[in-house]
Amino acid sequence: MDGSALLKASLILAFCIAKETLGQDVASLQQCAANLACSLDYQHIFKSQLDNLSNSLMNEILKERVSMNTDMVPMMRDLDILKYNTSNQIDGMVRHIGTIDAELAHDREYLGNLTRGLYILNNEFHAEQVVRYQDVHKLVTELDGVKHNIAVLKNSLNQLLGLPENYTDPALHYCPEKDAVILELQHNLTKLNSQYLIADTASNNAQAIMFLLQKQVVDLKGNVAILTNELDMKNKIITSLQIQLQNAKNNQGRHVSVESCNASLGMESGNIQDSAITASDVHQGYTASAARLNNKSGWYTSEKAQSQDWLQIDLGQPQYVTIVATQGAPCCEVMVTNYTLQYSQDNIVWKDYEEHCQIKLFSGNSDQTSVVAHTLSDPIFSRFIRFVVKDFKKDGSSNYVGMRVELFGCTV
Ligand SMILES: *[C@@H]1O[C@H](CO)[C@@H](O)[C@H](O)[C@H]1NC(C)=O
Ligand SMILES: *[C@@H]1O[C@H](CO)[C@@H](O)[C@H](O)[C@H]1NC(C)=O
Ligand SMILES: *[C@@H]1O[C@H](CO)[C@@H](O)[C@H](O)[C@H]1NC(C)=O
Ligand SMILES: *[C@@H]1O[C@H](CO)[C@@H](O)[C@H](O)[C@H]1NC(C)=O
Ligand SMILES: *[C@@H]1O[C@H](CO)[C@@H](O)[C@H](O)[C@H]1NC(C)=O
Ligand SMILES: *[C@@H]1O[C@H](CO)[C@@H](O)[C@H](O)[C@H]1NC(C)=O
Ligand SMILES: *[C@@H]1O[C@H](CO)[C@@H](O)[C@H](O)[C@H]1NC(C)=O
Ligand SMILES: *[C@@H]1O[C@H](CO)[C@@H](O)[C@H](O)[C@H]1NC(C)=O
Repeated sequence: MDGSALLKASLILAFCIAKETLGQDVASLQQCAANLACSLDYQHIFKSQLDNLSNSLMNEILKERVSMNTDMVPMMRDLDILKYNTSNQIDGMVRHIGTIDAELAHDREYLGNLTRGLYILNNEFHAEQVVRYQDVHKLVTELDGVKHNIAVLKNSLNQLLGLPENYTDPALHYCPEKDAVILELQHNLTKLNSQYLIADTASNNAQAIMFLLQKQVVDLKGNVAILTNELDMKNKIITSLQIQLQNAKNNQGRHVSVESCNASLGMESGNIQDSAITASDVHQGYTASAARLNNKSGWYTSEKAQSQDWLQIDLGQPQYVTIVATQGAPCCEVMVTNYTLQYSQDNIVWKDYEEHCQIKLFSGNSDQTSVVAHTLSDPIFSRFIRFVVKDFKKDGSSNYVGMRVELFGCTV
């Protein structure tokens, strides 16, 4: 063979190797090279070099797979443990929140009872206070009267004895004819004195009751303040637990592994209904619902120079998506060469799928039949998925956008 033939053959191989990513099917690499070589009539010349190269490439791929498995298996185990731990933690948190909620309900009821009790007690206290004040007032008036009577009596006695007004010397000298009156006065005096003592004791008791009631009201107010603070604190704890719980729930999807979650979600099988598949644009006579892997019809848009088209799949409920796969449309060199993914829980708010905090640009198809699959390093957990076209093949004459797709993953 001459130098220029060798150069062409090398270019074919380089093209085919660049086109396929490591880990792709070796057969398709071989096929690619073989097809191109054949069409250029070099197949017979380079067959053995091709065989040698594909053998050595196969060895490389096997080595790569072995080392990937060595790295991945412990990671998958950790992820499973983490997933198990996360759901345990969520269960624990739900239980914890349940307990606190119950305690809080009990405390609220208690606080309600206490506030009601305080209200009633306050009313009773005021009513009691009014009655007691009236009692005290009456007693004081009575006491004044008694004191006055005592003074009058003493003076009457002094007059009878011929003693000066307000005289208090106990050594009395009196006439016998006046004894009866004196005895009666003394008797009246003793009676008045005992009435005075009774009124004084009652007044002291009324005041003691008032102080007691006042102290009870103050104590109750203090208890209500303490309980109100505790309720505030518990409310704050609940709010923070609820946030943690939401975060844990949001992060659940991060822990599924492609090893155990890679079932077809139903584009090719038809499990996903036609009505669940929609697109930004559809070429007359075609439907978005034919964008199913290996469908004979496929999805096409109208002709255009640039595309911002999208193909949307409604999974009916949030599901894990771990792998996405695309294929060209069946006809006319129509295929999407680059795309991004978006996902949404409600078909209103959409998020871009990112890896390492950057929107992930996926490489699409370069022929009409091969299926190009990508594993998502951060599995999506969502109900709505969109393939957003970034670039498509233009052949200069008829520039349609179109593709066929499949999603792999699992239900919760
Ligand atoms: C293919 O590899 C074998 C052994 O590695 C070698 O003997 C043979 O010459 C190679 N063939 C070509 C065409 O390079
Ligand atoms: C899972 O939880 C156990 C016990 O709480 C802990 O010892 C272990 O480190 C956790 N594992 C991971 C991967 O978080
Ligand atoms: C609140 O009062 C009601 C009625 O007196 C009583 O049945 C209930 O046990 C009280 N609740 C608390 C928490 O003290
Ligand atoms: C006797 O006592 C009364 C009341 O304390 C007083 O008003 C009065 O002036 C006194 N009389 C004399 C003579 O001290
Ligand atoms: C003694 O008290 C009685 C009744 O309270 C009264 O009728 C009487 O006049 C009093 N006697 C004198 C000497 O004040
Ligand atoms: C897909 O899941 C099965 C188990 O359901 C597993 O045996 C297989 O290795 C997984 N494939 C990939 C590519 O992870
Ligand atoms: C292609 O998809 C459409 C829409 O789901 C379906 O009606 C049709 O049967 C499919 N055809 C083939 C050949 O796969
Ligand atoms: C676009 O897709 C092609 C193949 O479809 C790929 O070779 C290329 O790297 C992609 N571009 C980017 C920026 O990913």
